[in-house]
Amino acid sequence: MSKISAAITAVGAYVPEYILTNQILETMVDTNDEWITSRTGIKERRILKDDGKGTSYLAIKAAQNLIKKNNMNPKDIEVVIVATATPDMKAASTASFTASEIGAVNAFTFDMDAACSSFLYGMSVAASYIESGRYKNVLLIGADKMSSIVNYKDRATCIIFGDGAGAVLFEANHENLGFQDEYLRSDGTGRAYLQATYGGSSFKLTPEILEQGGQYAFQEGRTVFKNAVSSMADAAVKILERNNLTKDSVDWLAAHQANKRIIDATANRIDLHQDKVMCNIHKYGNTTSATLPLLINDYESQLKKGDNVIFAAFGGGFNWGATYLKWAYNSKH
Ligand code: UT7
Repeated sequence: MSKISAAITAVGAYVPEYILTNQILETMVDTNDEWITSRTGIKERRILKDDGKGTSYLAIKAAQNLIKKNNMNPKDIEVVIVATATPDMKAASTASFTASEIGAVNAFTFDMDAACSSFLYGMSVAASYIESGRYKNVLLIGADKMSSIVNYKDRATCIIFGDGAGAVLFEANHENLGFQDEYLRSDGTGRAYLQATYGGSSFKLTPEILEQGGQYAFQEGRTVFKNAVSSMADAAVKILERNNLTKDSVDWLAAHQANKRIIDATANRIDLHQDKVMCNIHKYGNTTSATLPLLINDYESQLKKGDNVIFAAFGGGFNWGATYLKWAYNSKH
């Protein structure tokens, strides 16, 4: 028997219709298109306007898109993981509800939260399940309704984040394509610089805290920026070195879309040509757990069987790392 590797065999995505442009933000907080574009690369982001709909709505839509595009029977799905920092509720899991709604009635399900690295870590878990031989397939969804924890009076955060979801299917591969290697790290001393604090078990949400907007995400941008640049680039270098990859043998960099300057810095550290750097931050902003699958979805038609793809992410926690995948198929879509 040949070794089992874990390959991505299908992709789907969903972003809400409402487009929050830089021009609209100019009317909401003291900011301007020039500042946002030059500091972040973001032009617009999608927002799920309906308060009655949460992250599961995005996750369900992305999964349904994958299922429809690939003519799949959802009853065949064995595991559903929703990577998210904004679950519908504290318990029960968003993944359980998502799986039932898409008809994945034979799957077991759970959520994973590692902030902006949730999907990157999720890839590691999904790949391990497949490589172990215990499961034939895993549906990994990265979804976040960031607008549910963003304060639209805080210009330091509201210009960055957007809502969206992407889904990928991992399946067994016998040609050594798919997941090859990972370098994942965490440093809990970083949590002071990026957090959505109140409402958690250590930080009770009181009427006074609500009054102060304590339920919203807080970020000390400069510190996070510095750590993101060095950590993501270091992780990418490490993955290249230990897999004997060079700037010529890497076909794609799919980096967490937090800031165009961070993506560029990571690409520059590995000396990668701009054409190989996936980018859609201008359209969606930072969708947290959804950035990586939204990239794969946008670039699916350009990816070729055997392409070497490096994924990298950095986020709250701090959590970060890089993974290396050999793409497994030529797209029919
Ligand atoms: O996804 C999870 C990981 N997150 C990240 O990786 C995000 C990392 N951080 C960043 O991307 C950047 O730090 C930001 C985009 C958040 C901010 O960019 P920056 O270049 O680090 O700006 P800054 O915070 O150092 O602020 C520079 C100036 C300040 O004014 P003074 O003190 O120089 O007078 C800010 O008050 O820009 C001001 N400023 C703004 N001006 C216009 C901050 N936000 C805005 C704004 N519009 N929206």
